[in-house]
Amino acid sequence: MTEVGHSPRKYKNNFNKQDQNVRLVPHMVSSESAKQSRTSGHSNYQTIEVFHLDKITKIVLKRPEKKNAFSVEMYKEVGSALDEAAQDDSVLTVITGHGDYFSSGNDLSNALRPIKESVEETTMELTGVVKILVCKVIDFPKPLVAMVNGPAIGIATTILGLFDLVYASEKATFNTPFSKLGQHPEGCSSYTFPKIMGLGKATEVLLFNKTLTAQEACSVGLVTEVFPDATFQQEVWSRLRNYATLPKTCLALSKELIRNVEKEKLHYVCEKEFELLAKRVNSEDAINAIKEFFQRKSKL
Ligand code: COA
Repeated sequence: MTEVGHSPRKYKNNFNKQDQNVRLVPHMVSSESAKQSRTSGHSNYQTIEVFHLDKITKIVLKRPEKKNAFSVEMYKEVGSALDEAAQDDSVLTVITGHGDYFSSGNDLSNALRPIKESVEETTMELTGVVKILVCKVIDFPKPLVAMVNGPAIGIATTILGLFDLVYASEKATFNTPFSKLGQHPEGCSSYTFPKIMGLGKATEVLLFNKTLTAQEACSVGLVTEVFPDATFQQEVWSRLRNYATLPKTCLALSKELIRNVEKEKLHYVCEKEFELLAKRVNSEDAINAIKEFFQRKSKL
């Protein structure tokens, strides 16, 4: 598989003016803060942006025209960015979305676009990139924080069960429309969701497509805390900046203690989920549901 984004890269030392997340946090673009961002390397990511500030690595999902849907390239790029964040001098890593969505989940056009010679190879490529990203999240050595700025769908919801903290705007919603798409839970949610929210709630969400509001997701334990949308960026960043002043190694070792007992199980669950997905990704109900999604506009 071709790994994207391994060429030498320069981290951006200025902030994209279109990035609301940054614009809303004036202190982050102060000259003091700017001095702390990295100035070496070159970022040639196409689907994400990576910022380094105040000992925090921030990965921004950036395909707003597709509601930050995970294309094959985005799966690979987020994986590469996590590899780099695991090695850099940041204390913690944050993933957030650009624009109004956190992410609309798997890019449904992935399944319709043959990227390999045969259907089998294409299936392996598609499920492979998703699985690799999930494994990287399971193994990520530093505190991993999701800043859920808006709706999260599919894998953008399921994978949150593997994060250490999930802070959400009150505008965020959480939905996994797998059965509507002839698909199945992934991101280890078949294990983490029942554990986090209990079997009944997990069944409503994972089997019956129930959408959770941010408050509901918080009350069932998927979300750590909900913030008013108007102050979401400021409040969360000020908290994260404080967290990032704590000793890096100490936090990483404590995370290891908390997480290590489950790691083997999570990798097993991940393997099983992708075995099923690989069998079912080209099923008639899945392909029909995806074709219907793309045809819906022409019917309007
Ligand atoms: N995969 C591929 N394309 C997607 C997408 C996804 N997951 N989510 C959004 N898009 C695209 C739309 O096709 C549209 O593209 P276009 O402008 O080229 O037509 C664009 O993003 C904007 O989406 P649109 O549907 O017009 O916006 P909306 O506000 O009406 O609805 C969503 C937004 C996210 C509710 C809707 O796009 C949706 O249901 N997406 C699918 C989500 C999904 O099922 N994800 C997989 C879970 S397993």
